[in-house]
Amino acid sequence: MSETPQPADLIVFGGTGDLSMRKLLPALYHCDRDGLLAPETRIIAMSRGGLDDADFRGKVDAEVRGSVPVDDLATWQRFLGRLHHISIDISGEDSTGWAKVTALLAGHEQRDRVFYLASPPMTFGPFCREAHRAGLVTPASRVVLEKPLGRDLASARHINDEVGAIFHERQIFRIDHYLGKETVQNLLVLRFANAFLEPIWNSLWIDHVQITAAETVGTPGRRGYYDHAGALRDMVQNHLLQLLCLVAMEPPARNDRESIRDEKVKVLESLRPITGGEVDRFTVRGQYTAGVSGGVPVPGYLDEPDNTPPTEASHRVETFAAIRAEVKNWRWAGVPFYLRTGKRMPYRSSEIVVQFKEVPHSIFPGSTPNRLVLRLQPSEGIRLELMAKEPGAGEVALKPVPLSLSFAETFTARVPDAYERLLMDVLAGNPTLFMRRDEVEAAWRWIDPILTEWESQNMLPEPYPAGTAGPAGAHELVGRSGRTWHEEGLA
Ligand code: BG6
Repeated sequence: MSETPQPADLIVFGGTGDLSMRKLLPALYHCDRDGLLAPETRIIAMSRGGLDDADFRGKVDAEVRGSVPVDDLATWQRFLGRLHHISIDISGEDSTGWAKVTALLAGHEQRDRVFYLASPPMTFGPFCREAHRAGLVTPASRVVLEKPLGRDLASARHINDEVGAIFHERQIFRIDHYLGKETVQNLLVLRFANAFLEPIWNSLWIDHVQITAAETVGTPGRRGYYDHAGALRDMVQNHLLQLLCLVAMEPPARNDRESIRDEKVKVLESLRPITGGEVDRFTVRGQYTAGVSGGVPVPGYLDEPDNTPPTEASHRVETFAAIRAEVKNWRWAGVPFYLRTGKRMPYRSSEIVVQFKEVPHSIFPGSTPNRLVLRLQPSEGIRLELMAKEPGAGEVALKPVPLSLSFAETFTARVPDAYERLLMDVLAGNPTLFMRRDEVEAAWRWIDPILTEWESQNMLPEPYPAGTAGPAGAHELVGRSGRTWHEEGLA
């Protein structure tokens, strides 16, 4: 990133939506507060909201200000001053909306121009075509695509073709916000800036890997989206597979935009396909029913308050998914990678657990294998569990003790939200932490047969009460080989 921020126009389509109000605008405010935005940089929201600049600034003042630290009113006012709003309906013949965008951007063709599409994937192609037709796509333009990129491989390809007809691949930034999380980036540093792990980072020493993204939240108000997404599309195809790639990839030659992504694609292409009858053996899907979350009774998925009533799709959609994956290459042959994600789990916890093998010959009773836990959230940190002797005379008693690195205790600086990092990377034109076309398509290629099998079966997801660690099938999935889920924080 250059020292002096360059002026930019950031156009957020879907600019009054949930993502924009909850994540993008707070992240941009933090960047502004940290001096990372040039004075001339503007944030232009586009939506159907019928708002003008003053209305939008009022809305942000009312809805965002409470969620960010406004310690200095002048900075907040400066941030509000960057905001513009253009009311537009891209599904119709709304030429006045486009004319307003054109007028606002006129004379600023040399600036970095970022189109951030915080909107459903079916709008990506039409938006790009219209922006192009309006003459707004300059050589310095970039487009950011929010996940999910399609519903399957075919629709992802279609979107990639449509967007690719207007923008070069180097201008397309497919965002997966997990890649902007500090601990995720630290995983690369841990693996490739320390010598001791690499010799044991393979099937000779590692028994299995668990990747969990557990959330306590349910899906109130999200039925319209979630019924057609489900945990597999919403979390596994992108976030969990990206984490798997970072754990399993070979050391890249350089820390640059293509080397890391090249290695990630190789991992995705080495995933052993799970097809047909194997789907039932290696995958589990669940849906939460009424239960207790954080001491409070909560409804099941089908009874979540929502404007849209439940349909057939609501009964079939999974709010929990677990998969036993395998990376078929020399380093990882035979090492299961267990992936798991769910809504309304007992605790919020995203972590990667690398479980090492037993010592080859144990001379102490009670020794348990080492474990490396990378905690993404909450309380980001890295912990290596080692065996130690409990103090005392007499029999040697062993106890696993942690060697811990807590980011909050070690680094005093504020941990930025993933979106801050990623938005600044887009403005700097750095795509390293964004997904390349081949990466997204390779992930769908692996997910597709699982979806096909699930959708062809006339079976409902296994129920699990809200506030519990997923359905019984998930425990059987790991239990079959005598393993258990790492339940710390999920007990
Ligand atoms: C989003 C999903 O991509 O990630 C949400 O659409 C999920 O369903 C969210 O809640 C989780 O993100 P985080 O950063 O809170 O783990």
